[in-house]
Amino acid sequence: MKAVEVKPGVYWVGGVDWELRYFHGYLTPRGTTYNAYLIVDEKIVLVDTVKHYLFAEMLSRIEDVIDPAMIDYVVANHVEMDHSGSLPEIMELVPGAGVITSPQGEKGLRRHYKKEWNFQVVKSGDAVNIGKRSLQFVHTPMVHWPDSMVTYVPEEKLLLPNDAFGQHIASTGRFDDEVGWDIACEEAAKYYANIVLLYGDQVKKALEVVSQLAIDVVAPSHGLIWRSYLPQILAAYRKWANNETDRKALIVYDTMWGSTEKIARALREGLEEAGVPVVTRCLKENHISTVMADALTARVILVGTPTLNNGMFPTVGAFLTYLKGLRPKKRLGFAFGSYGWGGQGVKLVAETLASLEWDMPLDGVNIQYIPDPGELEAVKETGRELAKRI
Ligand code: FEO
Repeated sequence: MKAVEVKPGVYWVGGVDWELRYFHGYLTPRGTTYNAYLIVDEKIVLVDTVKHYLFAEMLSRIEDVIDPAMIDYVVANHVEMDHSGSLPEIMELVPGAGVITSPQGEKGLRRHYKKEWNFQVVKSGDAVNIGKRSLQFVHTPMVHWPDSMVTYVPEEKLLLPNDAFGQHIASTGRFDDEVGWDIACEEAAKYYANIVLLYGDQVKKALEVVSQLAIDVVAPSHGLIWRSYLPQILAAYRKWANNETDRKALIVYDTMWGSTEKIARALREGLEEAGVPVVTRCLKENHISTVMADALTARVILVGTPTLNNGMFPTVGAFLTYLKGLRPKKRLGFAFGSYGWGGQGVKLVAETLASLEWDMPLDGVNIQYIPDPGELEAVKETGRELAKRI
């Protein structure tokens, strides 16, 4: 694939990571891309780079357009190595180029690469003229690192927001309409749930800034470039940042001998009979990053565990650690499970869900050994009762 023109004189020159299946704890079944952009004006600007092992791919795309030695500036919107990983190689080709970054970006890049590059630190709101165009920089701290910033090109109505609005998708098409809204939204939601969810308040501030800019293309640093579904993805981000959910339930559990699974089924039947759509995920078969995507818009989240060694089942403990870190808000919670003796697991689940300040409208269910038909009928009724509280 050659460089792809995004706007006149603005080219995608990134790398496509078709084989990536694991991104620091996040499963990426569709792979990903690292999007770098080349802006050709009186000054030549490279915005972000790619993971180190795709440097040659990026370089060859830059060479499709210009001699890389002509680059005047490299903008580092974000320090994380999937975007800064090829900076050392690029800077060897253009050692005098300005490295435009935020104050935290400079600190982070120095810590990562230990290089004395020509840093040009910009404050939020600063602009750099590059000829017919200008680049404006807006800091977006904690979306999702302290150094994060976005680059805006007003003459092109183009926003380069780095990780924000990204999706982990490797594809031949570079634009949202070449893959379609359903897949683009599915992956953007999974990305938001696993990378951005904790920073909803900062996202709201960033959306306020974005709403004041004239934009018709948003070109993030992962996945597809938004040009046809821009209103839809902005609306989705507003919904997710405000923790708005749908009237649906997510049941997450693991099971040792099948008892917790029977309870999960009875709860699902009760909820479904009461008209609530349910997604059920057993943690043996479903990775926590996939389950988080389901959690993004579920209003009620039911978590089930057997008691093992006086505590939760390890997979449930791992899920709750992850969930607690990402901190979805405004949910209803419910704990359930089974035990042989002791039975502490369900109490620990309930405490964790309550620590997220979720509403816990009903007492949990905790059944010894094997639930009998009468107990399962009562659990089903609990599911129906829970549906009334949604
Ligand atoms: Fe895509 Fe925060 O790096």
